[in-house]
Amino acid sequence: MVKKSLHLHSTHKTILALLLLLLVYSLSSYGHAIKAHIFIYAGCSEEKYQPGSPFEGNLNSFLSSIVSSSSQALYNSFSMGNGSSTPPEAATYGLYQCRGDLKIIDCSKCIESAVNQIGLVCPYSYGAALQLEGCYVRYEHSDFLGKIDTGVRYKKCSKSVNNDVEFFRRRDDVLADLESAISFRVSSSGLVEGFAQCFGDLSPNDCSSCLAEAVGKLKTLCGSAAAADVFLAQCYARYWASGYYELSSDSTSEDDVGKTVAIIVGVLAGVAVLIVLLSICRKTMS
Ligand SMILES: *[C@@H]1O[C@H](CO)[C@@H](O)[C@H](O)[C@H]1NC(C)=O
Repeated sequence: MVKKSLHLHSTHKTILALLLLLLVYSLSSYGHAIKAHIFIYAGCSEEKYQPGSPFEGNLNSFLSSIVSSSSQALYNSFSMGNGSSTPPEAATYGLYQCRGDLKIIDCSKCIESAVNQIGLVCPYSYGAALQLEGCYVRYEHSDFLGKIDTGVRYKKCSKSVNNDVEFFRRRDDVLADLESAISFRVSSSGLVEGFAQCFGDLSPNDCSSCLAEAVGKLKTLCGSAAAADVFLAQCYARYWASGYYELSSDSTSEDDVGKTVAIIVGVLAGVAVLIVLLSICRKTMS
């Protein structure tokens, strides 16, 4: 009899320990959910380089340059190995851009995260672009720096809003304001908010025309969406109905899913711990 109850006790302890671990783990993974690192899109060249090639050397020095530069500036561009001393096929051109409202320390963290991800998302690619929530990194084999490009790279439209004249009026106010930005701008009107940004190498004129293009695409591609994102090659614009990102499951990013799972697991683990504790108490008392 005594032996059996001891045995039960140690099983309980093991379960308790496991559940506590689970609880701690789920809470800590919730704490790690930092918004700036959320993946938005990536594009990779089909052409691949050989491991150990001179291109790889230049790419690696580009990647370490942007990590160190991002602790000083939100934007910078680099050209590596385009002098006469290295074979021309090894040249690497690239840039990074952090969101205009990021603190420099967060910019730096975001770029570090992008550098860690870009090789996994685009292994051995001669060209790659990676947009996270807070920052963007792109490199190419050919010189794209300073060349105007208004191609659409990514768009995301939420579900539509119907017959809400007030919403559309506010949204158009926000978009009109964003269109006149010359680098980064946040805007709001009533319950609609938005922001837009051009990459740091664009002149004010080119920035305005890029944003006009982006805003035009928001309207033509996303119509009456309650929230929308359009990323062109050199600028982006976004708007959303206030509270949209909290209320709608449509906008659920991977990170929100992660958070929700972590919370559910945490709550379940908590309830399980309570049940085990209660059953131990009852055993001890009886
Ligand atoms: C390398 O490329 C950059 C960016 O286009 C350019 O400004 C620079 O003059 C080039 N250097 C050489 C040596 O060609």
